[in-house]
Amino acid sequence: MAEKIRLGILGGGGNSLVGILHRIAASMHDKYDIVGGVFSRDMNSNVEFANNIGISSDRVYENCDSMIEKELGLPSDKRIQAVAILTPNFLHHSMAKSLLENGFHVICEKPLTTTYQQAKELRSLVKESGLVFAVTYTYTGYPTIRKIREMISNGAIGEVQKVDAQYYQGWINPIIHQSDTRMDTWRLDPEKSGISCCIGDIGTHAFDMLEYLTHLKIDKVLADLNYLYDDNKMDIDGSILIRCTNGVKGIIRASQIATGENNNFVIMIYGKKGGIKWEQENPRVLHYMLEGEEVQMIESDKINSDLLSDDAVLPPGHPDEIFDAMANIYNGAAKAINKEDYNEGEFPTIIDGVRGMNFIESVVESHNKGNVWISLDNN
Ligand SMILES: NC(=O)c1ccc[n+]([C@@H]2O[C@H](COP(=O)([O-])OP(=O)(O)OC[C@H]3O[C@@H](n4cnc5c(N)ncnc54)[C@H](O)[C@@H]3O)[C@@H](O)[C@H]2O)c1
Repeated sequence: MAEKIRLGILGGGGNSLVGILHRIAASMHDKYDIVGGVFSRDMNSNVEFANNIGISSDRVYENCDSMIEKELGLPSDKRIQAVAILTPNFLHHSMAKSLLENGFHVICEKPLTTTYQQAKELRSLVKESGLVFAVTYTYTGYPTIRKIREMISNGAIGEVQKVDAQYYQGWINPIIHQSDTRMDTWRLDPEKSGISCCIGDIGTHAFDMLEYLTHLKIDKVLADLNYLYDDNKMDIDGSILIRCTNGVKGIIRASQIATGENNNFVIMIYGKKGGIKWEQENPRVLHYMLEGEEVQMIESDKINSDLLSDDAVLPPGHPDEIFDAMANIYNGAAKAINKEDYNEGEFPTIIDGVRGMNFIESVVESHNKGNVWISLDNN
Protein backbone atom coordinates (compact mmCIF):
# COMPACT_ATOMS: atom_id res chain seq x y z
CA MET A 1 0.00 0.00 0.00
CA ALA A 2 1.27 3.49 -0.87
CA GLU A 3 2.43 5.71 1.95
CA LYS A 4 -0.28 7.93 3.38
CA ILE A 5 -0.66 11.34 1.81
CA ARG A 6 0.40 14.11 4.20
CA LEU A 7 -2.59 16.43 4.40
CA GLY A 8 -2.74 20.02 5.63
CA ILE A 9 -6.00 21.75 6.52
CA LEU A 10 -6.96 25.42 6.23
CA GLY A 11 -10.04 26.32 8.28
CA GLY A 12 -12.29 23.60 9.66
CA GLY A 13 -11.58 24.55 13.29
CA GLY A 14 -13.59 23.29 16.25
CA ASN A 15 -16.54 25.59 15.62
CA SER A 16 -16.87 24.87 11.92
CA LEU A 17 -19.54 22.95 10.10
CA VAL A 18 -17.42 20.92 7.72
CA GLY A 19 -14.16 20.41 9.63
CA ILE A 20 -15.20 17.19 11.34
CA LEU A 21 -16.69 15.81 8.12
CA HIS A 22 -13.40 16.30 6.25
CA ARG A 23 -11.23 14.96 9.06
CA ILE A 24 -13.24 11.77 9.38
CA ALA A 25 -13.61 11.33 5.62
CA ALA A 26 -9.89 11.83 5.05
CA SER A 27 -9.09 9.07 7.52
CA MET A 28 -11.72 6.55 6.43
CA HIS A 29 -9.80 4.81 3.66
CA ASP A 30 -6.45 5.11 5.50
CA LYS A 31 -4.94 7.15 2.70
CA TYR A 32 -4.25 10.47 4.43
CA ASP A 33 -2.48 11.65 7.57
CA ILE A 34 -3.44 15.11 8.79
CA VAL A 35 -0.09 16.60 9.73
CA GLY A 36 -0.60 20.36 10.01
CA GLY A 37 -2.55 23.42 9.09
CA VAL A 38 -4.22 26.68 10.03
CA PHE A 39 -7.51 25.90 11.69
CA SER A 40 -8.54 29.41 12.68
CA ARG A 41 -7.54 33.05 12.24
CA ASP A 42 -6.75 33.31 15.93
CA MET A 43 -3.39 31.68 16.72
CA ASN A 44 -4.31 30.66 20.28
CA SER A 45 -7.46 28.82 19.27
CA ASN A 46 -5.60 27.48 16.27
CA VAL A 47 -2.91 25.83 18.45
CA GLU A 48 -5.41 24.72 21.07
CA PHE A 49 -7.58 23.04 18.47
CA ALA A 50 -4.61 21.40 16.72
CA ASN A 51 -3.39 19.97 20.02
CA ASN A 52 -6.88 18.64 20.74
CA ILE A 53 -6.86 16.67 17.50
CA GLY A 54 -3.29 15.45 18.02
CA ILE A 55 -1.34 17.72 15.71
CA SER A 56 1.99 18.90 16.97
CA SER A 57 2.32 22.66 17.57
CA ASP A 58 5.32 22.94 15.23
CA ARG A 59 3.07 22.17 12.24
CA VAL A 60 0.43 24.76 13.22
CA TYR A 61 0.85 28.00 11.32
CA GLU A 62 -0.27 31.62 11.51
CA ASN A 63 -1.69 31.68 8.00
CA CYS A 64 -1.59 29.96 4.61
CA ASP A 65 1.50 31.83 3.39
CA SER A 66 3.59 30.97 6.44
CA MET A 67 2.42 27.35 6.18
CA ILE A 68 3.62 27.18 2.58
CA GLU A 69 6.94 28.84 3.37
CA LYS A 70 7.74 26.64 6.37
CA GLU A 71 6.55 23.43 4.73
CA LEU A 72 8.72 24.10 1.67
CA GLY A 73 11.67 24.25 4.08
CA LEU A 74 11.02 20.64 5.20
CA PRO A 75 12.46 17.59 3.43
CA SER A 76 10.10 16.44 0.68
CA ASP A 77 9.29 13.18 2.49
CA LYS A 78 7.99 15.12 5.52
CA ARG A 79 6.31 18.01 3.72
CA ILE A 80 2.54 18.42 3.35
CA GLN A 81 1.52 17.10 -0.09
CA ALA A 82 -2.14 18.08 -0.31
CA VAL A 83 -4.15 20.79 1.43
CA ALA A 84 -7.88 20.89 2.14
CA ILE A 85 -9.39 24.41 2.07
CA LEU A 86 -12.38 24.61 4.42
CA THR A 87 -12.57 28.34 5.09
CA PRO A 88 -15.35 30.77 4.17
CA ASN A 89 -15.60 31.24 0.39
CA PHE A 90 -13.68 34.51 -0.03
CA LEU A 91 -10.43 32.83 1.08
CA HIS A 92 -10.58 29.88 -1.33
CA HIS A 93 -9.09 31.61 -4.36
CA SER A 94 -6.00 33.20 -2.81
CA MET A 95 -5.22 30.09 -0.78
CA ALA A 96 -5.69 27.70 -3.71
CA LYS A 97 -3.62 29.94 -5.99
CA SER A 98 -0.65 30.07 -3.60
CA LEU A 99 -0.86 26.33 -2.97
CA LEU A 100 -0.90 25.46 -6.67
CA GLU A 101 1.94 27.87 -7.40
CA ASN A 102 4.00 26.09 -4.76
CA GLY A 103 3.33 22.52 -5.82
CA PHE A 104 0.61 21.37 -3.39
CA HIS A 105 -2.41 19.31 -4.47
CA VAL A 106 -5.69 20.91 -3.37
CA ILE A 107 -9.02 19.64 -2.05
CA CYS A 108 -11.29 22.68 -1.89
CA GLU A 109 -14.77 23.27 -0.54
CA LYS A 110 -17.46 24.63 -2.81
CA PRO A 111 -18.24 27.19 -4.12
CA LEU A 112 -14.76 27.11 -5.66
CA THR A 113 -14.22 30.90 -5.46
CA THR A 114 -16.28 34.08 -5.25
CA THR A 115 -16.09 34.90 -8.99
CA TYR A 116 -16.10 32.95 -12.24
CA GLN A 117 -12.97 34.81 -13.33
CA GLN A 118 -11.03 33.59 -10.27
CA ALA A 119 -12.24 30.05 -10.92
CA LYS A 120 -10.96 30.15 -14.50
CA GLU A 121 -7.61 31.42 -13.23
CA LEU A 122 -7.35 28.41 -10.92
CA ARG A 123 -8.30 26.09 -13.79
CA SER A 124 -5.33 27.44 -15.81
CA LEU A 125 -3.00 26.93 -12.85
CA VAL A 126 -4.19 23.34 -12.40
CA LYS A 127 -3.63 22.67 -16.09
CA GLU A 128 -0.13 24.18 -16.07
CA SER A 129 0.94 22.48 -12.86
CA GLY A 130 -0.54 19.02 -13.43
CA LEU A 131 -1.55 18.98 -9.75
CA VAL A 132 -4.71 17.28 -8.51
CA PHE A 133 -7.60 19.59 -7.59
CA ALA A 134 -10.76 18.17 -6.04
CA VAL A 135 -13.86 20.26 -5.27
CA THR A 136 -15.98 18.73 -2.53
CA TYR A 137 -19.48 18.56 -3.92
CA THR A 138 -20.03 16.10 -1.11
CA TYR A 139 -23.31 14.58 -2.19
CA THR A 140 -21.85 13.21 -5.43
CA GLY A 141 -19.90 10.81 -3.21
CA TYR A 142 -22.97 8.95 -1.92
CA PRO A 143 -22.93 5.30 -3.03
CA THR A 144 -26.57 5.62 -4.13
CA ILE A 145 -25.81 8.68 -6.23
CA ARG A 146 -22.98 6.89 -7.99
CA LYS A 147 -25.33 4.01 -8.70
CA ILE A 148 -27.94 6.38 -10.15
CA ARG A 149 -25.31 7.89 -12.44
CA GLU A 150 -24.47 4.43 -13.77
CA MET A 151 -28.12 3.45 -14.11
CA ILE A 152 -28.88 6.54 -16.18
CA SER A 153 -25.78 5.98 -18.36
CA ASN A 154 -26.86 2.38 -18.89
CA GLY A 155 -30.31 3.42 -20.09
CA ALA A 156 -32.32 2.44 -16.98
CA ILE A 157 -34.79 5.29 -17.52
CA GLY A 158 -34.28 5.79 -21.26
CA GLU A 159 -33.45 9.13 -22.78
CA VAL A 160 -33.71 11.85 -20.13
CA GLN A 161 -36.58 14.27 -20.80
CA LYS A 162 -37.07 16.23 -17.54
CA VAL A 163 -34.81 17.12 -14.60
CA ASP A 164 -35.79 18.63 -11.26
CA ALA A 165 -33.58 19.38 -8.26
CA GLN A 166 -34.95 20.84 -5.06
CA TYR A 167 -32.66 21.88 -2.22
CA TYR A 168 -34.63 23.31 0.69
CA GLN A 169 -33.23 24.39 4.07
CA GLY A 170 -34.82 26.58 6.73
CA TRP A 171 -31.83 27.76 8.79
CA ILE A 172 -31.85 31.36 7.58
CA ASN A 173 -35.47 31.96 8.63
CA PRO A 174 -34.62 32.77 12.28
CA ILE A 175 -31.71 34.96 11.15
CA ILE A 176 -33.10 36.91 8.23
CA HIS A 177 -35.82 38.90 9.99
CA GLN A 178 -33.49 40.94 12.29
CA SER A 179 -30.76 43.13 10.83
CA ASP A 180 -28.26 42.39 13.63
CA THR A 181 -28.39 38.62 13.13
CA ARG A 182 -28.23 39.16 9.37
CA MET A 183 -24.97 41.11 9.83
CA ASP A 184 -23.47 38.36 11.98
CA THR A 185 -23.65 35.61 9.36
CA TRP A 186 -20.76 35.40 6.89
CA ARG A 187 -22.92 33.69 4.27
CA LEU A 188 -25.04 36.89 4.08
CA ASP A 189 -21.99 39.13 3.64
CA PRO A 190 -21.03 39.54 -0.04
CA GLU A 191 -17.43 40.29 0.96
CA LYS A 192 -17.14 36.82 2.46
CA SER A 193 -19.65 34.77 0.53
CA GLY A 194 -19.50 36.16 -3.02
CA ILE A 195 -22.42 37.48 -5.05
CA SER A 196 -24.87 34.82 -3.89
CA CYS A 197 -25.82 33.14 -0.65
CA CYS A 198 -28.46 30.51 -1.40
CA ILE A 199 -27.49 29.68 -4.96
CA GLY A 200 -23.77 29.79 -4.17
CA ASP A 201 -24.19 27.65 -1.08
CA ILE A 202 -26.75 25.03 -2.08
CA GLY A 203 -28.11 25.82 -5.57
CA THR A 204 -24.64 25.00 -6.83
CA HIS A 205 -24.89 21.50 -5.31
CA ALA A 206 -28.15 20.97 -7.20
CA PHE A 207 -26.60 22.21 -10.46
CA ASP A 208 -23.54 20.00 -10.06
CA MET A 209 -25.65 16.98 -9.12
CA LEU A 210 -27.89 17.23 -12.18
CA GLU A 211 -24.89 17.42 -14.50
CA TYR A 212 -23.10 14.62 -12.60
CA LEU A 213 -26.04 12.23 -12.77
CA THR A 214 -27.18 12.82 -16.33
CA HIS A 215 -23.95 13.83 -18.14
CA LEU A 216 -26.11 16.62 -19.60
CA LYS A 217 -24.70 20.14 -19.78
CA ILE A 218 -26.92 22.93 -18.54
CA ASP A 219 -26.88 25.55 -21.23
CA LYS A 220 -29.21 28.36 -20.13
CA VAL A 221 -30.78 29.59 -16.91
CA LEU A 222 -33.68 31.92 -16.11
CA ALA A 223 -33.74 32.85 -12.44
CA ASP A 224 -36.04 34.56 -9.99
CA LEU A 225 -34.26 35.20 -6.67
CA ASN A 226 -35.67 36.25 -3.36
CA TYR A 227 -33.97 38.64 -0.88
CA LEU A 228 -36.94 39.42 1.44
CA TYR A 229 -35.51 42.76 2.72
CA ASP A 230 -34.22 45.74 0.75
CA ASP A 231 -31.08 45.99 2.86
CA ASN A 232 -30.28 42.29 2.42
CA LYS A 233 -27.87 42.04 -0.52
CA MET A 234 -27.85 38.25 -0.69
CA ASP A 235 -30.39 35.84 -2.18
CA ILE A 236 -31.81 33.42 0.33
CA ASP A 237 -34.18 31.61 -2.03
CA GLY A 238 -34.51 31.13 -5.75
CA SER A 239 -36.31 29.33 -8.57
CA ILE A 240 -34.33 28.65 -11.72
CA LEU A 241 -35.62 27.32 -15.01
CA ILE A 242 -32.92 25.43 -16.87
CA ARG A 243 -32.36 24.23 -20.42
CA CYS A 244 -29.68 21.73 -21.32
CA THR A 245 -27.58 21.78 -24.49
CA ASN A 246 -29.67 18.93 -25.96
CA GLY A 247 -32.93 20.79 -25.28
CA VAL A 248 -33.93 18.95 -22.07
CA LYS A 249 -35.77 21.32 -19.73
CA GLY A 250 -35.95 21.37 -15.97
CA ILE A 251 -35.87 23.33 -12.77
CA ILE A 252 -33.60 24.00 -9.80
CA ARG A 253 -35.35 25.21 -6.65
CA ALA A 254 -33.19 26.28 -3.71
CA SER A 255 -34.18 27.91 -0.47
CA GLN A 256 -32.76 28.70 2.95
CA ILE A 257 -36.07 30.13 4.18
CA ALA A 258 -38.07 26.93 3.71
CA THR A 259 -39.13 27.14 7.34
CA GLY A 260 -38.74 23.92 9.26
CA GLU A 261 -36.68 22.13 6.60
CA ASN A 262 -33.25 20.73 7.50
CA ASN A 263 -31.34 19.54 4.46
CA ASN A 264 -34.10 18.53 2.09
CA PHE A 265 -32.20 17.92 -1.13
CA VAL A 266 -34.29 15.94 -3.61
CA ILE A 267 -33.34 14.92 -7.13
CA MET A 268 -35.87 13.76 -9.72
CA ILE A 269 -34.84 12.66 -13.18
CA TYR A 270 -37.35 11.39 -15.72
CA GLY A 271 -36.64 9.56 -18.97
CA LYS A 272 -38.74 8.04 -21.72
CA LYS A 273 -38.91 4.65 -19.92
CA GLY A 274 -38.96 5.66 -16.27
CA GLY A 275 -37.83 7.96 -13.50
CA ILE A 276 -35.45 8.01 -10.56
CA LYS A 277 -35.95 9.93 -7.34
CA TRP A 278 -33.45 10.37 -4.46
CA GLU A 279 -33.70 12.23 -1.15
CA GLN A 280 -30.63 13.34 0.78
CA GLU A 281 -32.38 12.91 4.10
CA ASN A 282 -32.81 9.21 3.30
CA PRO A 283 -29.67 8.77 1.20
CA ARG A 284 -29.47 4.99 1.09
CA VAL A 285 -32.62 4.60 -0.95
CA LEU A 286 -33.36 5.34 -4.56
CA HIS A 287 -36.85 5.17 -6.02
CA TYR A 288 -36.92 3.58 -9.44
CA MET A 289 -40.17 4.11 -11.32
CA LEU A 290 -40.65 2.23 -14.57
CA GLU A 291 -43.61 3.08 -16.76
CA GLY A 292 -46.52 0.83 -15.80
CA GLU A 293 -44.66 -1.06 -13.06
CA GLU A 294 -44.55 -0.96 -9.27
CA VAL A 295 -42.10 1.53 -7.80
CA GLN A 296 -38.88 -0.18 -6.68
CA MET A 297 -37.00 1.09 -3.66
CA ILE A 298 -33.37 0.06 -4.04
CA GLU A 299 -31.10 0.31 -0.99
CA SER A 300 -27.43 1.15 -1.11
CA ASP A 301 -26.16 -2.03 0.49
CA LYS A 302 -27.35 -3.81 -2.64
CA ILE A 303 -25.24 -1.54 -4.81
CA ASN A 304 -22.17 -2.42 -6.86
CA SER A 305 -20.61 0.34 -8.88
CA ASP A 306 -17.38 0.93 -10.80
CA LEU A 307 -17.27 4.31 -9.09
CA LEU A 308 -17.01 2.63 -5.69
CA SER A 309 -13.84 0.62 -6.00
CA ASP A 310 -13.57 0.13 -2.24
CA ASP A 311 -16.38 -1.10 -0.04
CA ALA A 312 -18.19 1.56 1.94
CA VAL A 313 -16.52 2.00 5.31
CA LEU A 314 -19.68 2.53 7.32
CA PRO A 315 -21.91 -0.53 7.63
CA PRO A 316 -25.26 -0.42 5.82
CA GLY A 317 -27.92 1.24 7.89
CA HIS A 318 -25.53 3.62 9.51
CA PRO A 319 -27.28 6.99 9.55
CA ASP A 320 -24.09 8.98 8.98
CA GLU A 321 -23.51 7.86 5.41
CA ILE A 322 -22.46 11.42 4.58
CA PHE A 323 -19.02 10.45 5.89
CA ASP A 324 -18.87 7.71 3.29
CA ALA A 325 -19.86 10.23 0.64
CA MET A 326 -17.03 12.61 1.50
CA ALA A 327 -14.64 9.67 2.01
CA ASN A 328 -15.33 8.47 -1.53
CA ILE A 329 -14.27 11.88 -2.81
CA TYR A 330 -11.09 11.83 -0.70
CA ASN A 331 -10.39 8.29 -1.86
CA GLY A 332 -10.75 9.26 -5.53
CA ALA A 333 -8.45 12.25 -5.07
CA ALA A 334 -5.90 10.04 -3.29
CA LYS A 335 -5.80 7.71 -6.28
CA ALA A 336 -5.10 10.67 -8.55
CA ILE A 337 -2.42 12.05 -6.21
CA ASN A 338 -0.78 8.60 -6.01
CA LYS A 339 -1.03 8.30 -9.81
CA GLU A 340 -3.17 5.15 -9.51
CA ASP A 341 -5.94 4.29 -11.98
CA TYR A 342 -9.33 5.81 -11.24
CA ASN A 343 -12.59 6.34 -13.05
CA GLU A 344 -13.84 9.69 -14.28
CA GLY A 345 -16.46 10.76 -11.75
CA GLU A 346 -14.70 9.41 -8.65
CA PHE A 347 -14.17 12.95 -7.41
CA PRO A 348 -15.40 16.36 -8.60
CA THR A 349 -12.57 18.30 -10.24
CA ILE A 350 -11.63 21.89 -10.98
CA ILE A 351 -13.85 21.64 -14.09
CA ASP A 352 -16.90 21.07 -11.86
CA GLY A 353 -15.85 23.94 -9.60
CA VAL A 354 -15.52 26.30 -12.56
CA ARG A 355 -18.91 25.18 -13.95
CA GLY A 356 -20.43 25.93 -10.55
CA MET A 357 -19.10 29.49 -10.58
CA ASN A 358 -20.32 30.00 -14.15
CA PHE A 359 -23.77 28.85 -12.99
CA ILE A 360 -23.86 31.14 -9.92
CA GLU A 361 -22.89 34.24 -11.89
CA SER A 362 -25.34 33.43 -14.70
CA VAL A 363 -28.20 32.97 -12.23
CA VAL A 364 -27.54 36.32 -10.54
CA GLU A 365 -27.18 38.02 -13.93
CA SER A 366 -30.48 36.51 -15.08
CA HIS A 367 -32.27 37.81 -12.00
CA ASN A 368 -30.66 41.26 -12.13
CA LYS A 369 -31.51 41.75 -15.80
CA GLY A 370 -35.22 41.15 -15.06
CA ASN A 371 -35.47 37.34 -15.21
CA VAL A 372 -34.06 36.72 -18.66
CA TRP A 373 -32.36 33.67 -20.17
CA ILE A 374 -28.57 33.70 -19.72
CA SER A 375 -26.28 31.23 -21.48
CA LEU A 376 -23.51 29.41 -19.67
CA ASP A 377 -20.13 28.84 -21.35
CA ASN A 378 -20.33 25.42 -22.93
CA ASN A 379 -17.39 25.33 -25.27
N1 LIG B 1 -19.68 20.43 0.79
C1 LIG B 1 -20.65 20.78 1.59
O1 LIG B 1 -21.70 20.14 1.61
C2 LIG B 1 -20.48 21.96 2.50
C3 LIG B 1 -21.24 22.08 3.67
C4 LIG B 1 -21.01 23.19 4.49
C5 LIG B 1 -20.06 24.14 4.14
N2 LIG B 1 -19.37 24.01 2.98
C6 LIG B 1 -18.36 25.00 2.57
O2 LIG B 1 -17.27 24.93 3.50
C7 LIG B 1 -16.71 26.22 3.68
C8 LIG B 1 -16.74 26.54 5.18
O3 LIG B 1 -18.08 26.55 5.60
P1 LIG B 1 -18.48 26.29 7.13
O4 LIG B 1 -19.94 26.26 7.17
O5 LIG B 1 -17.70 25.16 7.65
O6 LIG B 1 -17.98 27.65 7.76
P2 LIG B 1 -17.76 27.96 9.30
O7 LIG B 1 -17.95 29.41 9.46
O8 LIG B 1 -18.57 27.01 10.11
O9 LIG B 1 -16.21 27.58 9.52
C9 LIG B 1 -15.16 28.28 8.90
C10 LIG B 1 -13.84 27.86 9.56
O10 LIG B 1 -12.78 28.55 8.90
C11 LIG B 1 -11.96 29.15 9.92
N3 LIG B 1 -11.31 30.33 9.34
C12 LIG B 1 -11.85 31.51 9.02
N4 LIG B 1 -10.92 32.34 8.50
C13 LIG B 1 -9.76 31.63 8.47
C14 LIG B 1 -8.45 31.91 8.03
N5 LIG B 1 -8.12 33.10 7.53
N6 LIG B 1 -7.51 30.93 8.13
C15 LIG B 1 -7.82 29.73 8.66
N7 LIG B 1 -9.05 29.41 9.10
C16 LIG B 1 -10.01 30.34 9.00
C17 LIG B 1 -12.90 29.48 11.06
O11 LIG B 1 -12.19 29.60 12.29
C18 LIG B 1 -13.77 28.23 11.06
O12 LIG B 1 -13.13 27.17 11.73
C19 LIG B 1 -17.55 27.18 2.84
O13 LIG B 1 -16.91 27.41 1.63
C20 LIG B 1 -18.85 26.41 2.61
O14 LIG B 1 -19.50 26.76 1.40
C21 LIG B 1 -19.57 22.93 2.17
